[in-house]
Amino acid sequence: MASFSSSIMISLLFCCFLFINQTAKCDHDNEDTLLQGINKYRASLNLSALTENDKAECLADEMADQFQDQPCTNTTGSNTVRGNEPQFANYPRLLAKCDLNVTNTRDGKILPVCVPKLDPTLVLSNYTLSQYSQYLNDTSFTGIGIGHEDDWMVVVLTTSTPEGSFVPANGNGVANLAIKFGPISHYLVLLFGFFMVM
Ligand SMILES: *[C@@H]1O[C@H](CO)[C@@H](O)[C@H](O)[C@H]1NC(C)=O
Ligand SMILES: *[C@@H]1O[C@H](CO)[C@@H](O)[C@H](O)[C@H]1NC(C)=O
Ligand SMILES: *[C@@H]1O[C@H](CO)[C@@H](O)[C@H](O)[C@H]1NC(C)=O
Ligand SMILES: *[C@@H]1O[C@H](CO)[C@@H](O)[C@H](O)[C@H]1NC(C)=O
Ligand SMILES: *[C@@H]1O[C@H](CO)[C@@H](O)[C@H](O)[C@H]1NC(C)=O
Repeated sequence: MASFSSSIMISLLFCCFLFINQTAKCDHDNEDTLLQGINKYRASLNLSALTENDKAECLADEMADQFQDQPCTNTTGSNTVRGNEPQFANYPRLLAKCDLNVTNTRDGKILPVCVPKLDPTLVLSNYTLSQYSQYLNDTSFTGIGIGHEDDWMVVVLTTSTPEGSFVPANGNGVANLAIKFGPISHYLVLLFGFFMVM
């Protein structure tokens, strides 16, 4: 009896995590689509694909958080990032949250766009068919991080030089990344299977 009710509990828990996993996955679909689109664009220019950089993704997420309250009136949002220093008083704090500082991000590039409902085709063309395309068509950029919030998409480009690598000088790569639900749900599948057998 006890094992019956506990397997119900586990099943409920399992469904819960399946749901969270699904939403988390969907939530990243538009970022994956953009990454593929950008790398196709790079390939068409005979440039190497950009590789994902966890720190850059962390910063892109933080930046998107900042942008989300701003209206979508200026399509490129480039007026918010002058040079490469975003006009946010708390920018150094955002960097610190991602274990970064101005020394290892200086050569990177932050490219925000605002597109209603993040329509995938418009988001991609806002990068490939605007003045941003000059950065995508640039061999010095080798890495990328993407974040989004509401109608805002933020791309952060990194270089392979120390000034733009987004790698802290102490080289400690243990990321303070968002919790990934994938592995947890895998354990739950196992657990679920175990209770089904019982
Ligand atoms: C890319 O490289 C191929 C073969 O190396 C060449 O035929 C093509 O013209 C190049 N395209 C561009 C855009 O440079
Ligand atoms: C968009 O930004 C430019 C400056 O980059 C500014 O002059 C213009 O007024 C802005 N437009 C809107 C609708 O906010
Ligand atoms: C960028 O996105 C806006 C929607 O926010 C759209 O109106 C505009 O046409 C897009 N620009 C490009 C170059 O795709
Ligand atoms: C990309 O950059 C190369 C070299 O700077 C230039 O010749 C080419 O026209 C650029 N292509 C696009 C689509 O911007
Ligand atoms: C950035 O961090 C590195 C070590 O990770 C340090 O050597 C450097 O002084 C820091 N720069 C700033 C401006 O804090």
